[in-house]
Amino acid sequence: MTVTSKGFAAALRSATPWQHARISGIGGYRPRRVVPNSEIVERIDSSDEWIRERSGIIERRWAGDGESVIDMSVFAAEPALEMAGVKGSDLDAILVATVSWPYQTPAAAPLVAERFGSTAMAVDISAACAGYCHGITMANDMVRGGSAENVLVVGVERLSDFTSRDDRGTAFIFGDGAGAAVVSRSETPGIGPTIWGSDGEKWEAISQTESWIDVHEQKLDWPHIGMQGQTVFRWAVWGMAPVAQRALDAAGVTVDQLDAFIPHQANVRIVDAMAKQLGLPDDVAVARDIAYTGNTSAASVPLAMERMVRQGEIPRGGLALQIGFGAGLSYAAQVVTIP
Ligand code: UT7
Repeated sequence: MTVTSKGFAAALRSATPWQHARISGIGGYRPRRVVPNSEIVERIDSSDEWIRERSGIIERRWAGDGESVIDMSVFAAEPALEMAGVKGSDLDAILVATVSWPYQTPAAAPLVAERFGSTAMAVDISAACAGYCHGITMANDMVRGGSAENVLVVGVERLSDFTSRDDRGTAFIFGDGAGAAVVSRSETPGIGPTIWGSDGEKWEAISQTESWIDVHEQKLDWPHIGMQGQTVFRWAVWGMAPVAQRALDAAGVTVDQLDAFIPHQANVRIVDAMAKQLGLPDDVAVARDIAYTGNTSAASVPLAMERMVRQGEIPRGGLALQIGFGAGLSYAAQVVTIP
């Protein structure tokens, strides 16, 4: 039996969907402490040369006191809100993508909201390096669906807390930082269809070394993030370029129409291999923020975009293809208009 209610129908009508959404502001925060390769190499029997050659990383940032996940989120969100012309207290929703907020609960997002004097809907996204691109899609759908006008999407990590200084496979890769975007209503389309998915069969390729239950029951040390480097490398190089191509096709955009390619900053060799497979023309700017920022997981795509916009490397209003991929395994890619 169908129950109808005039009040419910009227309420649905009043939640008018908006046709389009766009990224209206972008911001980033890089911790003060610069950590060159020379500080890492001794404990993992490595060299500056090896790290540069195999990953493209020259230095990364590690957060210090007064640079918590919440602090960094706020520092990145402030310039993004300013660019968007939106007050923090006027946000309708806050999505924080992170895997390094050290509380099982509550999520980081309500604490970020509180710092802006906001009582907006606020939740975290746990999709590791793909989390920010998931957040952009979710914000896009929320704005277009009528449940929010302005959404703050933050990608933030303090991975130095979850990285073993003695793990040869990860100690040199990860860094700390935050990137943020505001997604707002728009007169014109600004966020293309997302191609996203997961491959849970490969969940062990990047994961916390032990579960909290194992840590507790077996009285183990603090767990860190472990990675089967070559497995992830192969998956990223051969699996992710086709996903990025599908995002282009879904948006009806060809490579020669792109202004920027902003993939997750996992390894510069992965970035270069993807750019080659996509057949990007030379005049498409390719993000290589990893050299001075390391791999900041959820923060890497917005941090890379923020740098390119700030340095005038890419035109505001132009088109960028962005893709996040990592633990899960999970991935998400879309074409966006550069704010
Ligand atoms: O953000 C989430 C997604 N993450 C990624 O996409 C990361 C994907 N993986 C990678 O970027 C790469 O696998 C790494 C950069 C982590 C490692 O580079 P690799 O070229 O895959 O190194 P490998 O593990 O194949 O090791 C190659 C050689 C080995 O020596 P032999 O057997 O060839 O003599 C290793 O023992 O390099 C040696 N090696 C090292 N040498 C100096 C491994 N790690 C190190 C090290 N320093 N840190």
